[in-house]
Amino acid sequence: MRAFVVSDYAHPSKIPLTQNAPAPSAGLNYFDILQAQGKYQHQPPQPFVLGSELAGRIAEGSPIPDGCPFRAGDRVFGAAQGTFAERVAVNWDALLPLPENMSYDQGAGLFVTWPTSYEALVGRAEVKPGEWVLVTASAGGVGIAAVQLAKALGAKVIAAAGSQEKLDISVKYGGADHGVNYSTEGWQKEVLKLTGGKGVDVIYDPVGLIRDSLKCIAWKGRAIVVGFAAGQIEKLALNLVLLKNISIVGIHWGAYTKIEPSRVPVVWKELLDLFASGRAKPVVYSETYPLERLADGLAALEQRKTWGKVIVHVRDASSGPKAKL
Ligand SMILES: NC(=O)c1ccc[n+]([C@@H]2O[C@H](COP(=O)([O-])OP(=O)(O)OC[C@H]3O[C@@H](n4cnc5c(N)ncnc54)[C@H](OP(=O)(O)O)[C@@H]3O)[C@@H](O)[C@H]2O)c1
Repeated sequence: MRAFVVSDYAHPSKIPLTQNAPAPSAGLNYFDILQAQGKYQHQPPQPFVLGSELAGRIAEGSPIPDGCPFRAGDRVFGAAQGTFAERVAVNWDALLPLPENMSYDQGAGLFVTWPTSYEALVGRAEVKPGEWVLVTASAGGVGIAAVQLAKALGAKVIAAAGSQEKLDISVKYGGADHGVNYSTEGWQKEVLKLTGGKGVDVIYDPVGLIRDSLKCIAWKGRAIVVGFAAGQIEKLALNLVLLKNISIVGIHWGAYTKIEPSRVPVVWKELLDLFASGRAKPVVYSETYPLERLADGLAALEQRKTWGKVIVHVRDASSGPKAKL
């Protein structure tokens, strides 16, 4: 993207036009695929623009209300309905300043993914140092954040994914201690072996693998229901909960702004501290997509080809300086 980027203060006549300034980015989520088909729990009235996570710069001429801490030109990340577009209107309370050490690509995948994983592990399962945590879909968007966060909390992490490549990613970018391929029959036995027969204290599951994972949960373990990427809402026989003396807890991060708004800034403060200290770092998939190829990015996500956060550049490098976030 072409832009006048101020790297050193100077009179405007001395500032060159940068040809390759980073373009605003948007993060892809599995629920975008569901929402496009009318299958998501939150469906805006038609017509609507798809996309929910973003990072970019506030446009000149934005209608900035009183009390808003942002100004035109500020680098921000956040959430809004309709981020797969060259411009998007955003409620300022759904924006945060993009940390200086982060690119738009890194920032575009933060707003939904990271607080979901943080609150799941800290607020819901109350992970303690030294505990064993099993993360399913460990290389995925919410999964790799959960692996990093569980490590930052001092847990021992077993990454579970559907291929060796994704297990390698979980170790390389997530810092997982072990990897187990859940497409292999009897994978739970491997988890039991790794934990000395005890099983894991916490299961973080965005796939719909709670029932299978309970075969390797520890006494008084906690299983967190994060999502159903495999496409089926799981049913569970509750005798398992009783017999193993366990808790099943859910996380619905999107509901916090309405039901428990006081928790939101607490979670973000802790996350931003972790990013600033380098103890947590967003993971971006190796291929990014221009807006014209959004469908390819979502298809790659749906077909389980991706890892980390998949990002779309909403404007390509040649679209000129007129279009603004
Ligand atoms: N509760 C909340 O507040 C909240 C917030 C955000 C997201 N979520 C949910 O979390 C889930 C994961 O989201 P995400 O953005 O992390 O997605 P993602 O990056 O696409 O990760 C999903 C992963 O699930 C695994 N998977 C297993 N079976 C699958 C199947 N049949 N089809 C597709 N994927 C399958 C795949 O990893 P392998 O190839 O390794 O199996 C895939 O990469 C979604 O259901 C989403 O709605 C919940």
